[in-house]
Parts: sequence; C-alpha cells; structure tokens
Amino acid sequence: MSKALDGVRILDFTHVQSGPTCTQLLGWFGADVIKVERAGEGDATRGQLRDIPDVDSLYFTMLNHNKRSITLDTKNPKGKAVLETLIKQCDVLVENFAPGALDRMGFTWERIQELNPRMVVASVKGFGPGPYEDCKVYENVAQCAGGAASTTGFDDGPPLVTGAQIGDSGTGLHLALGIVAALYQRNTTGRGQKVMAAMQDAVINLCRVKLRDQQRLDRTQVLKEYPQYPDSEFGEAVPRAGNASGGGQPGWILKCKGWEKDPNSYIYFITQAPVWASICKVIGQEDWITDPQYATPAARLPHLKNIFARIEQWTMTKTKFEAMDILNKFDIPCGPILSMKEIADEPSLRATGTIVEVDHPKRGKYLTVGNPIKLSDSQTEVTRSPLLGEHTDEVLGQLGYSAKDIADLRAEKVI
Ligand code: COA
Repeated sequence: MSKALDGVRILDFTHVQSGPTCTQLLGWFGADVIKVERAGEGDATRGQLRDIPDVDSLYFTMLNHNKRSITLDTKNPKGKAVLETLIKQCDVLVENFAPGALDRMGFTWERIQELNPRMVVASVKGFGPGPYEDCKVYENVAQCAGGAASTTGFDDGPPLVTGAQIGDSGTGLHLALGIVAALYQRNTTGRGQKVMAAMQDAVINLCRVKLRDQQRLDRTQVLKEYPQYPDSEFGEAVPRAGNASGGGQPGWILKCKGWEKDPNSYIYFITQAPVWASICKVIGQEDWITDPQYATPAARLPHLKNIFARIEQWTMTKTKFEAMDILNKFDIPCGPILSMKEIADEPSLRATGTIVEVDHPKRGKYLTVGNPIKLSDSQTEVTRSPLLGEHTDEVLGQLGYSAKDIADLRAEKVI
C-alpha cells in the first residue's frame, strides 16, 4: 500500500521533543525522514532519563520512530557542504533550535532559498515575535506562558502544569499541519515557504475556550458553571476551574468503589441536559426530574456541588468500569480515569495501533504510542528509532558521496 507522503523527503534538524514529534508524524505518513545529529553526541534525549545504561532512552526512542539518522558537524565547512547537498535534495527542513542558531550556522532563509527555492523551512520556537522571541523554551514554560497553567488546578492552589505535553507535542502537531499545507500550496506556486509554530501560540490555541471564558467573565463578572459559583467571588481573570467541564455540560471527577486504596478509582461524570432524567433514575433521585430547583440546566447551576455529591454517593458503590457499563446504557457521557498502566495493558488500544510494541536491537521490546491519526489509504507501520548515525553511509551514498569521500569525512570527524 502506498503512503500519503511517499516521495517527500524531510531534512530533520530537530531535537528534544517538539520538533521530533512533528517529523515522526510525517514519517508515519510515509515521508523519508533524515535526522541530522551532532557527530559523537546526537540528540540530547538519547542520554536523558535512561532506564538501561548506554542504551538510547525511551525518551528518544518514543519520539524518533520511522527515521534515518546521520551524524554531521554542521559547523565544519565540509559538514556545511553536506548539509547544502541535503537541502538541495530535500523538500522540507524542520528545526527547533534556539532562536538564531540556524542563521548562526550560515543557513538563513535567504541562503536556503538560493540552494533550493522549493524548500519548506519549518521551525518551532518558544515564542513568536515580541518581548520573549529570543528565549529558550521547554514544555512547562509554554504551558505557563500560553494560559494553560493559570487556568489549571484548584482555586485554592497554585497554577498547575498538565501531564499532556501540549507545549512540545502539541506544537509538533501544529507544525506538521503547517508543513503539509505548505507542501500543498507548493503544488500551485512551485515555491517553498517558511512555516513557524511558536509553542506559546500552540498552547493558547489549545486554551481557546479559556479566552472565551475570559470575555464572558469581562462582560458578566460571573462564570456560573465554574466551582467558584455561587459561593465565592470572581476576580478579573479566568480562575482555575478544578475538574469542571470546559463546555456547556457540567461535569466533575467523582470517587468510585475502591478510591481509598486506588488513586485512579474515579470517573468523569457529565450531567448532560438531555439525559438528566436518566441520571436521576440511575442514582435513585427521581424527585429531581420535576423539582424546579433541579429540573432545568439553569436551575441546576447553583446546586452543582450538591448534585455531584449526590451522584458520587452512587458512583462510590460501583467500580469505575461498573459505573461506565451502567451509565453507557443510558447514553450518559462519562469516562474512567485510566492509569498509564491500564492504558498500556488495554487490548483495544493495541488492536488499533495506538499503543504499539516495538523491538529495538539494544533495548529489546518496548511500548510506544503509535500514530493517533488513522488514514484508510495510508497505514502506519511503526519502525524502531535509529541508532546514532546508523544511516550516515547509506544517506551519503544516496547523495552521491563515494566510499572514499565518506571515509575521509569520518577521519576528519565531520560525520
Ligand atoms: N553540528 C554542529 N552544531 C550543531 C549541530 C550539528 N549537527 N546541531 C546543533 N548544533 C548547534 C547549534 O548550531 C547551536 O549552536 P549555537 O548556540 O552556537 O548557535 C547549538 O548546537 C545548540 O542549539 P540549541 O538549540 O541552543 O540547544 P540547547 O540544548 O542549548 O537548547 C532548547 C535546547 C530546546 C531550549 C532550544 O533548542 C530551544 O529553545 N528551541 C526552540 C523551542 C523548542 O523547540 N523547545 C522545546 C524543546 S522540546
């Protein structure tokens, strides 16, 4: 079967998480991804958070599937010449160096355009133009500067970062879409273009509903579905909403049977208006179906804490999976709080290729997250991450370098 991005060649100049997640996705869609790494060292994540001595970390292996690795000193004139050849022969250059690093290396947008006017140059930076444009940025900085931290957590606690890597992997996703759009536009213009995804912007995009709420708060001074209502005051900014639902259907996380010992014995429960009567019946509170204090969504808003406390009396009598089975029969939207252990062991996620077991020559078998985007005509086969420089000779050979040229470059520590 062919792949969606067959024939697209990516010069993958990325490292750490945000850029690698982008190029990994492109690889899953069939692009030929050539990862250029520093000779001798490689991507810093190869050595970070190692669980097996001297073996590429899971941090690296899980972000760099379906790629080839070459080593290259791109500050050495001979290394620059190799990079120039790569630029001429690739469709997209993806990078997430600190601001200005590519320019300092001598590869400005103008220079790349001279070498290959069809090249798409895609960058992740921490911030777009503005006061922080020169800053180096990691995940949690983006979560904080993008509005996620100020709106996550509980009212009486500090701002909180989330486990979902919305700054890194979230930006990688945004960048991948920009690249595909730029390649599509190139079909008509014949030209490459710059694609830029700032981590702050990506997080703001993912926090879109909180900017919605900011403007609702500005206008009405209250957010009636937030846990602060009706007992406490609202300030000027959108407060942390605890586990309140981000939409118009109130929800909360409720304890289930066994919560005293199992930190994940909880369920997310949504009191969707159309199934209110079913909820009342399931929990044995039929009088709430017609009681004017509970009968309509607007009437319920001041009583959400009581409502969820009452529903929790019921959920605490069931395991999260028993509650799921019962509630789903009534189309009541709910979701179990799944631990990573439960996710790793879930057969349906293995069956769809969302969780994949991969074999690696040095670490053996490990689990990874496969392609979350499923295309019916372009199936993803997850292949293991490359060893450092594993494909240097192969790629240089394809670029036209002879065995002697390659040996000379190696002797001079350029590769
Ligand atoms: N050969 C020679 N030099 C190389 C090279 C190669 N193959 N690859 C990279 N380098 C050099 C770069 O030219 C740069 O040199 P310079 O500082 O002299 O210009 C240097 O390596 C380091 O690059 P840098 O990006 O500054 O790495 P860092 O480890 O100091 O910073 C980040 C890491 C992630 C903070 C930074 O890259 C960054 O802010 N990136 C943008 C935002 C981002 O993607 N953050 C999320 C990461 S998950």
